[in-house]
Amino acid sequence: MLETFETRVELGERSYSVHTGGGLLERASKLLAEAGLTGRCAIITDSNVAPLYAERVVAALGGAPDVIEVPAGEASKSFATAEIVCRRLAQAGLDRKSFVIALGGGVVGDLAGFVASIFLRGIPYAQIPTTIVSQVDSAVGGKTGVNLPEGKNLVGAFHQPRVVLCDVDTLGTLPDREFNEGFAEVIKHAIIRDAAMFEELGAFTRNQENLSPVIARNVEIKAAIVSEDEKEERDIRALLNFGHTLGHAIENAAGYGTLLHGEAIALGIVAASRLSIKHAGLSRDEYERIVARLRAFSLPCSLPSSIETGQILDAMKADKKFEKGQMRFVLTASIGSAFVSNLVTRDDVIEALAALRGDPLA
Ligand code: NAD
Ligand code: GLY
Repeated sequence: MLETFETRVELGERSYSVHTGGGLLERASKLLAEAGLTGRCAIITDSNVAPLYAERVVAALGGAPDVIEVPAGEASKSFATAEIVCRRLAQAGLDRKSFVIALGGGVVGDLAGFVASIFLRGIPYAQIPTTIVSQVDSAVGGKTGVNLPEGKNLVGAFHQPRVVLCDVDTLGTLPDREFNEGFAEVIKHAIIRDAAMFEELGAFTRNQENLSPVIARNVEIKAAIVSEDEKEERDIRALLNFGHTLGHAIENAAGYGTLLHGEAIALGIVAASRLSIKHAGLSRDEYERIVARLRAFSLPCSLPSSIETGQILDAMKADKKFEKGQMRFVLTASIGSAFVSNLVTRDDVIEALAALRGDPLA
């Protein structure tokens, strides 16, 4: 039996537990009840995850929760899908005492959390994340939302879950590409907060025993940051955006679904690291070690030629990381720490994107 970890996100009355370990789907009823979730519920999931895990969660809950399935993929993070899901909740007769379970990756988590934040002006929800990205990042912290054609996550709400169950057994069915993309967020956490984890990742191999401690450590990092700066008001939570300013723009410019989220973030991390050499004094040696870590998880470090610089710059304009017209960029001076800078100019970004087209080690 794998060890189970419990991490608290400390937010006063809205504090909650994140459980990480194996066999958690089977214990869902008890863990949800401990978090006060006992009424009528609906499970929101996607077309890949439903056939794998929905029945097990339904059985664990002992009742007959409605299962609402959306198509797998980033395109489901939309107003149109949110409306469909809200209507299904209304048709199923959920009331203000009911709750929602997000069962799936970050797409399902962001969508279901958003729906929970607006349905009946807000009902509780639980996260049962089933990808690395969602377990180490998106299921923790209450950022929910959908995309607009103009940009990612442009509509949303802060709505904290009541409990998060990171069942690492579910990661066993992740295809290699989806498994590896999650490590972009893990490497990001290591760069901004945990130099020791950055070292240890060099020896990581994929097996179930190795997963719980890595996921739990990343949950701790995320939980601590969210507890310190829930609404991204103090330049602490903003550090989680390392690699995301350009990563989101690249993901949008490529067309949602072309690059996986983590793959776009990997490209954003390489660009942010290059900008860190120029504006934060990051050493060339540390930059090369960052590229090597990303490559060890088969993450892209060069921009595909099909994605034009103009499209990326256009996508950046819509990004929420601009403040009063100034670009706010997260940089690192050395692995294990990061800060928010406003020194990066549009020309710097164009230069970094040009460099991203070639060999990242040139
Ligand atoms: P995803 O939800 O699209 O999942 C990736 C793929 O894996 C999908 O096809 C999904 O159906 C499939 N899948 C999920 N679990 C599986 C399993 N156990 N076995 C087999 N297949 C499985 O993508 P993701 O990478 O989990 O999340 C990316 C999304 O998360 C993006 O929309 C991103 O913006 C968002 N995100 C949000 C936050 C936040 O703080 N809210 C943080 C990071 C990322
Ligand atoms: N994923 C960034 C955040 O939660 O703030």
